[in-house]
Amino acid sequence: MMRAVEDALQSMSARTGSLDALARLLSQATQQRAVAVGGYVNEVSRSAIGVRGISNKAQLGDMVMIRCDDRLQPAEVVRLEQTRVLVKPFDDRVMPPLGTPVFPEGPFRIAPSPQWKGRVIDALGQPLDDKGLLPAGAQAIAVDCPAPLAMNRSRVEKGLRCGVNVVDVFVPICFGQRMGIFAGSGVGKSTLLAMMTKAADFDTVVLALTGERGREVRDMLEDTMAGKLEKTIAVIATGDESPMMRRLAPNTATAIAEYFRDRGDNVLLIVDSITRFAHAAREIAIAAGEPPVSRGYPPSVFSQLPRLLERAGPGRVGEGTITGIYAVLVDGDDHNDPVSDAIRGTLDGHIVLDRGIAAQGRFPAVDILGSISRLAQHNWTPEQAKLATSLRGLVSRFEETRDLRMIGAYQAGSDPLIDQAVNLVPRIYGAMQQTPTSPPSLDPYSDLAMALRPKEAS
Ligand SMILES: Nc1ncnc2c1ncn2[C@@H]1O[C@H](COP(=O)(O)OP(=O)(O)OP(=O)(O)O)[C@@H](O)[C@H]1O
Ligand SMILES: [Mg+2]
Repeated sequence: MMRAVEDALQSMSARTGSLDALARLLSQATQQRAVAVGGYVNEVSRSAIGVRGISNKAQLGDMVMIRCDDRLQPAEVVRLEQTRVLVKPFDDRVMPPLGTPVFPEGPFRIAPSPQWKGRVIDALGQPLDDKGLLPAGAQAIAVDCPAPLAMNRSRVEKGLRCGVNVVDVFVPICFGQRMGIFAGSGVGKSTLLAMMTKAADFDTVVLALTGERGREVRDMLEDTMAGKLEKTIAVIATGDESPMMRRLAPNTATAIAEYFRDRGDNVLLIVDSITRFAHAAREIAIAAGEPPVSRGYPPSVFSQLPRLLERAGPGRVGEGTITGIYAVLVDGDDHNDPVSDAIRGTLDGHIVLDRGIAAQGRFPAVDILGSISRLAQHNWTPEQAKLATSLRGLVSRFEETRDLRMIGAYQAGSDPLIDQAVNLVPRIYGAMQQTPTSPPSLDPYSDLAMALRPKEAS
């Protein structure tokens, strides 16, 4: 008996020895591969890392792996020269010693699957929740891919209800439309976006939180969106993460949305905020040596914005759609800053939130007169269009005469239209108010009719 145990122990130690030898061989092979197909670090700074030996094996935007202390750290090629390549790691803390091996890996790809619904991931597609490994789908897709050709896309013509009354009545949205929510900080962009994720019309919701506060992530997922997470995939890169992660998160989210669109789903893609994406792209472009041209933004930022935004929209005929809603943080409440301007020009409409309205406690703080949906006519019936236009007219009268009425310069009865506005507009505003905890409205027009019903009948 003793003999058998000794034999078994001996054979186990022989096997462990051969496993060790195999591991040594593998490690040697990996190092040889670095010499054979990779390059090495020859310059390190806080903004980027210089690599020699891969100039003819990598392309701009490709992923490379830097081998640091037996771990492979991903980085992206941000500048390509004849003898060296500048790469920027996705983890800012990576500072490899000179001579560290670097392997080119080609474009960055992810393999989404329907089982990703209900999960929270980072920009590189790694799980951030405690639900275990993320199952890989059948096909790996490049995260940075072009939008479908304009002539191959189906047309945007089917309206939807997002459950937020003021949007559904005054700036209604269609499947495949791209809208921006423009506001300064703290006016209610994130809250409005979270309320829109509750819309029942969508099969899948992809949420990219980029550059926002870490605290808000759990608040948004666990409070505002509670109970709606089973059809949501959240891609998170908080403000403290590297600019590479912050720039990648909306691209990863868009690639996931494209995957579900190609399967025929109507996808809601939400990005909070696209301005932080532009800030991250600015930081990276400056690190790559581009000159800043407009308020510190290098030119490539203004080409990256439409490239990302154009990927949302309708798919090819027979495919699903991506309805894109993008929060735009208006720097210093200046609606004409170059990034807001570039985004406004690309999107199919904008919802403007106003600090004055928020200060009155009227939420969502939508400036009805300053907001437009360029595809509203596909959503409204002719009667609804007529109603929305006349209500807009009343709101305009009410706001124009606000100061006059405040100082008592207007006598009731002088203008029947103004009298009607004074009577109805506060009630319209009342019907448009919603908080994140109020249930999504099923029929905004019946809510409105209730509010506008003559007082004695109610
Ligand atoms: N619909 C709403 N109902 C009630 N309160 C709201 C509503 N929308 C916004 N608020 C209030 O406004 C505050 C700021 O909202 P939110 O965080 O959504 O703004 P933001 O524009 O996303 O800000 P930031 O630019 O800093 O991210 C909230 O904490 C909340 O108190
Ligand atoms: Mg916010």
